[in-house]
Amino acid sequence: MDNFAFILHPIDPKRDVQRKFPLLGRLLPTAAIHFFSAYFPPVYLSHVTGVRSRATGKEIEGWLVACPLTPQRMLALPPERVYRKIIETGRLAERLGARILGLGAFTSVVGDAGVTIAKHLSVPVTTGDSYTVAVAVQALREAARRIGIVLAEATGAVVGATGAIGRIAARLLAREVPRMILVGRRPERLLRVREEVEAEGAEVQIVTDVAAIREADLILAVSSALESIIQPDHLKPGAVVYDVALPRDVSQTVAARRDDVLVIDGGMVEVPGEVDFGFDFGLPPRMAYACMAETMILALEGRYESYTLGRKLRLEKVEEIARLAEKHGFRLGGFQSFGRPVTEEQIERIRRNARR
Ligand SMILES: NC(=O)c1ccc[n+]([C@@H]2O[C@H](COP(=O)([O-])OP(=O)(O)OC[C@H]3O[C@@H](n4cnc5c(N)ncnc54)[C@H](OP(=O)(O)O)[C@@H]3O)[C@@H](O)[C@H]2O)c1
Repeated sequence: MDNFAFILHPIDPKRDVQRKFPLLGRLLPTAAIHFFSAYFPPVYLSHVTGVRSRATGKEIEGWLVACPLTPQRMLALPPERVYRKIIETGRLAERLGARILGLGAFTSVVGDAGVTIAKHLSVPVTTGDSYTVAVAVQALREAARRIGIVLAEATGAVVGATGAIGRIAARLLAREVPRMILVGRRPERLLRVREEVEAEGAEVQIVTDVAAIREADLILAVSSALESIIQPDHLKPGAVVYDVALPRDVSQTVAARRDDVLVIDGGMVEVPGEVDFGFDFGLPPRMAYACMAETMILALEGRYESYTLGRKLRLEKVEEIARLAEKHGFRLGGFQSFGRPVTEEQIERIRRNARR
């Protein structure tokens, strides 16, 4: 049977460790989890069954495996040690018989975004970033329609615009809105991205202060910051934020203090078939992260190749994977906000409150 494997890792240390080791997660303080995560071996999580193409009826299976490192540890340790741990996790996937390996969350952010990891494994590797970009742009378009934002008059923003996902998503968004605000940390990198985004036809402003997104209607949050960087006073009434970052870019306080903005938990897609992940990684039933879905789509196609690697994503691949996803029946999952489904009443309330 065609198959795939996907690497997860703990993002919220106590919550995520408890999902596999309830006692350990309850007893260990957060600081101890960060510390011990560097010494823990890779973990087998589950066998995935029931992913079935709507187009061909083909069914695939998969495995979820975990790299124990937390994002804090991945950024603090020397890259070689982090690579080694991710490669060990990849070898576990190889022993299970995986024919393609997807890198989840920070395992695709660290260092050269998968290139070194792929070199040391015999199985092809993909970061899943191409499909993550495609889904982000589709979702922003859909959210704008539902909340009543006219794209031709809107200002878009990308937080983390110099990153793998941010850079290419900014280009695609610039085809739909007349003005873009690009947020990053390093001005020299922002200058390079500005040129590419301007070439798509939008007027572009580059900034290092995230507060500048207060002028934006549609915001893609895709930084690799370890803490929430988007706070309640950074958003204008009626704004939509699609938060793809893991850990999240948007502070939980936005949910409590702003009833006039829509924050969507990003990157969630519905998987065709009767998928059973065998492990609760925090999404509703039948939902996967877009990066995980990219790995499944490639297995359904029998395309065992390192499809998305490194930080220079290609537009053709974003477009191709979106087509293949649609063919096999992957689609945008319903919107969730801070873990709760977004209802029509909530959208109506946000629209009303934004006019106050
Ligand atoms: N939900 C999903 O399906 C999914 C899939 C893949 C990835 N992700 C998540 O998406 C995020 C981005 O991934 P990526 O591969 O694009 O990462 P990346 O290539 O490392 O880019 C990260 C971007 O964030 C910026 N940044 C980092 N820390 C920041 C801070 N404190 N304040 C402002 N900007 C900051 C970086 O700026 P510099 O250029 O200056 O460093 C860069 O522009 C990660 O959180 C990852 O876990 C989610």
